Amino acid sequence: MLAPNHDAEDLHRTDLEHCVHPWTDFTDWIRSGSTTMVRGDGAYVWDAHGNRFIDGIGGLWFANVGYGRRELIDAAARQLGTLPQYSYFANLANPPATELAAKLAELAPGELNHTFYSTGGSTANDSAVRIAHYYFDTIGKPSKRLVISRRNAYHGSTFLASALSGKAADKPGFQFPQGLVHHVSEANCYRMPAGIGDEAAYCDYLVADLQGTIAELGADNIACFFAEPIMGAGGVLVAPDGYHRRMKQVCEEHDILYVSDEVVTAFGRLGCFFASHDRYGIVPDMIVTAKGITSGYLPLGATIISDRVYHGLSRPRSDGAIFAHGFTYSGHAASCAVALANIDVMERERICERVQETGPYFHERLQTLRSVPIVGDVRGSHFMLCMEFVKDRDTREPFAGDVQVGRHVARAAQSRRSATLRYCRRRSS
Ligand SMILES: Cc1ncc(COP(=O)(O)O)c(C=O)c1O
Repeated sequence: MLAPNHDAEDLHRTDLEHCVHPWTDFTDWIRSGSTTMVRGDGAYVWDAHGNRFIDGIGGLWFANVGYGRRELIDAAARQLGTLPQYSYFANLANPPATELAAKLAELAPGELNHTFYSTGGSTANDSAVRIAHYYFDTIGKPSKRLVISRRNAYHGSTFLASALSGKAADKPGFQFPQGLVHHVSEANCYRMPAGIGDEAAYCDYLVADLQGTIAELGADNIACFFAEPIMGAGGVLVAPDGYHRRMKQVCEEHDILYVSDEVVTAFGRLGCFFASHDRYGIVPDMIVTAKGITSGYLPLGATIISDRVYHGLSRPRSDGAIFAHGFTYSGHAASCAVALANIDVMERERICERVQETGPYFHERLQTLRSVPIVGDVRGSHFMLCMEFVKDRDTREPFAGDVQVGRHVARAAQSRRSATLRYCRRRSS
């Protein structure tokens, strides 16, 4: 049993004995154990030893309004006390889910007016594929099944979402659906192939890659294309100017649904509610979102679909089949109540506008780290920034994988934190 005061050593031992963590190098974890986080307030979190950290990664790219926000906590408590959740299947609904869907229709661009709820980003992406399949089948184009995604993309960790994802390093040891998902090049301006020249030519190259893949697979066989406005886990990659508009245009020409994965980029991270239109000038056929929709206070995923997709999806079928897809926690009442409170805070406090003001300053300050010899690139936008570490800045040669440079930097930052804390304690005693 755990001590009620969360004794740090007890937690450490019990975690090692009983927990299986996601995305874990078990050898390293067993050697070093976990950092147990016990509390958050604003932009800070505290570990079980009382060390305070700036929450640079926002929990996991979700803590958009910060920790300890009374409005979100009260909204959750009120809804949990009224009705935490009830089935949302078929003709059952609840007020927060209804109200949130209307609010998302107001915030999302164009005719993205209908929301299918799930439990997070992975299930929202799975839902997008299932919606695309069912939509094309129902409108009489059943051969449109294949999915195009991008190398190095991260779209989640369910069987289907991990197949959409394109990081080669995450593939060994698993099985994936064969032949369903095809990957085109990611848009990596720092590492464009040699001889391309400038970003405009690189954009042509990427568009041609998509066109070539469509020609190879046959447009009649392709249901949808997935892209994040800025590729997040794949390296915070900002595409060349005009890229999203042109990729969307190619998709339109071939009746391929464009799915914008805004699990990270929505709800203020780039200074707007949805980046697809406000930053990149496109109205996708579907927007997938999660994380910042509740600022992580409760789990929620949303697949927001256009009028056109909705009307196809809801059309009666000659075989009498129904849209047989959904989750126990679809439209979770407490999660939706928290999302509404979260959006309300963001609007009242003009958080998007504040990110527009402070984001460029953050970017500018981070650029000063280019003077560090291993920093090859500093890139991103607003509150989605990263540094790429390289062995050789001139050739852009990366460190070998076994060097695990990111882990060293993270550990050094953590130990620096402890040293600073010890220094502060010495000075104040
Ligand atoms: C772009 C993107 N899509 C999907 C996901 C998966 O979301 P979840 O972990 O909530 O299933 C993530 C998670 O980091 C993500 O970054």
